[in-house]
Amino acid sequence: MAPPLEEKGKVITTGSTEIDKKLGGGIPVGSLVLLEGQSDAGKSVLTQHFAHSTLINKISVACYTTENTVKSLLSQMNSLNLDITDYFLCDRIRIYPVEMTAEGVDIGESFDALKRHFASLPPRFELIIFDSLTGMVAHAEDRGIIDFFAACKKLCDQGRTIVTIVHSYAFADQMLIRVRSLCDAHLVMKIDQMGERLVKTMEVAKVRNADQSTGNIISFDVEPGIGMKIIPISKARA
Ligand SMILES: Nc1ncnc2c1ncn2[C@@H]1O[C@H](COP(=O)(O)OP(=O)(O)OP(=O)(O)O)[C@@H](O)[C@H]1O
Ligand SMILES: [Mg+2]
Repeated sequence: MAPPLEEKGKVITTGSTEIDKKLGGGIPVGSLVLLEGQSDAGKSVLTQHFAHSTLINKISVACYTTENTVKSLLSQMNSLNLDITDYFLCDRIRIYPVEMTAEGVDIGESFDALKRHFASLPPRFELIIFDSLTGMVAHAEDRGIIDFFAACKKLCDQGRTIVTIVHSYAFADQMLIRVRSLCDAHLVMKIDQMGERLVKTMEVAKVRNADQSTGNIISFDVEPGIGMKIIPISKARA
């Protein structure tokens, strides 16, 4: 069993003071997080910041990815100055590439296998990231999706923090409402037109137990060697 919430007040951060502030200080440990957004909006980069900062804070991370191999994820993070190679070599972060072959696969069974895999991780893997669930959600029955999120919620009640990434188009409106209500935090990432330029935005739609009220929106860019960089709103509109 994962450690109980004795570490009350502990949060998962991005490592950027400005972004963490917008998250109300960070995502409280033990949260089930829905990170929703369109393609290219910065979902993966945000979770890479979470992973890097969490490792620095001495918490182990399990990262499931349908988008990368171990090698490509390590080099992607390296290119953002979020090098985690040493952590990977000493088993502080585990990277599990997940192959999405929908044909002939029972998605219900895949969700069950995933739940079991999450639960079998040693307790020190307090942060679990799944990037992205879109392929599974697209082929699953509503019931299977709700059951999966409910199972994740149980693991979170035992002290894990689980960040699930989903493309916005994956859920019908009703499903999004049901899944959102199961989650403790809901972040929405978009690409918005501001004047002449396209700007990435993150809306903190919900964070339960955060220090401050939510509803914050930030605009940011992703820069090589830096990662997410906040653009002041006045500049974004210019
Ligand atoms: N190392 C890097 N250097 C510069 N820009 C980068 C780097 N890594 C990612 N980006 C840019 O950051 C943006 C967000 O990328 P990210 O992969 O986080 O999007 P995403 O929301 O996960 O998209 P998808 O839905 O396609 O997975 C993209 O425009 C991408 O080109
Ligand atoms: Mg991505």
